[in-house]
Amino acid sequence: MTPSDEIPARIADLREQVAHHFRLYHEHDAPELPDADYDALVRELRRLEAEHPEFDEPETPSRWIGGSASATFAPVTHAVPMMSLDNAMDPSELRTWYDRLVRGLGGAEPTMIAELKFDGLAMSLRYEHGELVQAATRGDGRVGEDVTANIRTIDDIPHRLEGDDAPAVLEVRGEVYMPTAVFEELNDGYVAAGERPLVNPRNAAAGSLRQKDPAMTAKRRLSFWAYQLGAVDGGPEFGSHAETLAYIASVGFPLNDQLRTFDDIDEVIDYCAYRQDHRHDLGYEIDGVVIKVDDLALRDELGFTSRAPRWAIAYKFPPEERTTLLREIQVSVGRTGRATPFAVLEPVFVGGSTVSMATLHNQDQVAVKDVRPGDTVIVRKAGDVIPEVVGPVPSMRPKGARPWKFPTTCPACGNPFVRPEGEADTRCVAPDCPAQRDQKVAYWASRGAMDIEGLGEQMVEKLTAAGLVADPADLYSLTVEQLVELDRVGATSAGNLVDEIGKSKRQPLPRLLTALGIRHLGPAASQALTAEFHTLDAIMAKSVDEMASVDGVGRVIATTVRTWFDQPANQAFIERLREAGLGFGDEEQARRAAEARASTPQTMAGRTVVVSGSVPGYNREEAEQAITSRGGKSPGSVSKKTFALVVGPGAGASKLSKAEANGTPIVPAERFEEFLSDPDAVVAEIAG
Ligand code: IVH
Repeated sequence: MTPSDEIPARIADLREQVAHHFRLYHEHDAPELPDADYDALVRELRRLEAEHPEFDEPETPSRWIGGSASATFAPVTHAVPMMSLDNAMDPSELRTWYDRLVRGLGGAEPTMIAELKFDGLAMSLRYEHGELVQAATRGDGRVGEDVTANIRTIDDIPHRLEGDDAPAVLEVRGEVYMPTAVFEELNDGYVAAGERPLVNPRNAAAGSLRQKDPAMTAKRRLSFWAYQLGAVDGGPEFGSHAETLAYIASVGFPLNDQLRTFDDIDEVIDYCAYRQDHRHDLGYEIDGVVIKVDDLALRDELGFTSRAPRWAIAYKFPPEERTTLLREIQVSVGRTGRATPFAVLEPVFVGGSTVSMATLHNQDQVAVKDVRPGDTVIVRKAGDVIPEVVGPVPSMRPKGARPWKFPTTCPACGNPFVRPEGEADTRCVAPDCPAQRDQKVAYWASRGAMDIEGLGEQMVEKLTAAGLVADPADLYSLTVEQLVELDRVGATSAGNLVDEIGKSKRQPLPRLLTALGIRHLGPAASQALTAEFHTLDAIMAKSVDEMASVDGVGRVIATTVRTWFDQPANQAFIERLREAGLGFGDEEQARRAAEARASTPQTMAGRTVVVSGSVPGYNREEAEQAITSRGGKSPGSVSKKTFALVVGPGAGASKLSKAEANGTPIVPAERFEEFLSDPDAVVAEIAG
């Protein structure tokens, strides 16, 4: 191709791509590309078109807006168009918007309301004389689609407005969305059934609304946040956005509670940063913050551009999904032998950092997603979560790309992988696998376990490769002289590492228990075992039953812990740790607990007693301790096993009704002490 042919060819190619992805997004609700990648394509096309007006094309997809109505759902012309919003991609763009606003108002600084930008679908709900008569999607802003039957299945949306004086016409607008928990549950189901998972909650919500059968929509448990009014005839007059929202709430709509009022753009900018950092704390997805002028008279003064109001702007968070090239798929083997496939990627900046590797979870996930080396894939990195490959972009798959096959042998030791029937994980079960060994040592040193600074994966690999360390107990005999012999380890860092390892000997018992890396035994259960038995020796002497009776432990954990301690190799390992001088828990505390037990009558032995509401003379912890120190258990919820429910002022209604349904005796809090000394007598009296 000659250089003069290159530009029109590139423009033609971009037009084809933009048109393809536009249709997938707007007409099929099945986008292949993350919004950020699609926006980048459109931007490049617009840039080339602007630079080369000679290749103009009136129908170019870079000028298409919204989606055209489909054949399934009847078109609805909006009485008041549904505008979109201009975007600010960073604080400086937000400030530019604000400065222009203030200039437009002759210097006046307006009060602003900041709302979350919900990542769902805009919806216009039309009520006539208080009855819901029509629900329409945004479409291209002028004409949307009638999805009334499906919308009626959403619990958050009233079929009839509350109050007696409903206006002749009231259009309430807002966002239909799928809560994250619903999305995850739905996707777990798809994966379990071997079906391709949905890409994100927004697409899931869009797909749910496009169901021909409203019963299908109902199953998807969608929700709704209202945020403005459309056409109104005969309603009350409002002076501000805040008043409008209060009215919307008063007629029965859910309003989001994360609403803030600001008079200062710096505070708005701080708030946007805060929201960005906490965007995953909410239970639903947001992709930005919408800032709106509160005063409706000022809004009228500011007016609209051709596509968006001047009185509002969307501050967009940086994207958490991008596409990139999948170079190859590799498998890593963890400390328990679990084999995790992961993608080696062309580095891409997403979710605040450059990502070059992303997890593919397990064998089934690779098969269900059908990602292949050479594919362009969507990578997702949300907050602190490990980056993952969401799926391929099918239209960009190179010809001849072959499905990837999970290896049959461990890449670290060459032994065959094993996948037990009915389990999702493939494992290397070789006892001497070097990958497992290295991962065990790295886990021992990790932040949630013994927290040994300076002992990351690379250092561990150096130590094991040099034959200095074969398991975590070996760490405690390392010397500075040995460490300085290693590649690129100086005297200072060697000294620091020896100190850090030494310090870890005094880590509390829950950390040591966690560091052992016993399957299922995490920090919470380690803490629970320590709180009950105080020392490692005491725990090692307990039966499955004794461990399983500890709150927060349970039979699965108790069984794996018992099995682990029963193995001679593990006992020898523990003895080496003892010789190295590691702390095995608080002997003194153990002695005191034993004494207390001996002097307190064990009236609650084998009994589970739940406390709800306040008990005179005790705080919650003391009341529970009074039960556990007498040999009983005191969990937070009522079950069939509950012996009695102690009830004081402020007791939970659900606990009470559950206890009543189960026929559990209900003991008034003022009889707590009497109950502690003779539970049977008190319960017999109540039952009688
Ligand atoms: S106000 C004329 N408020 O963002 C102003 N929109 O690009 C209309 N959105 O289509 C919108 N959260 O789907 C507004 N709190 C919020 C919003 C919100 C999400 C969506 C809405 C709209 C798009 C604008």
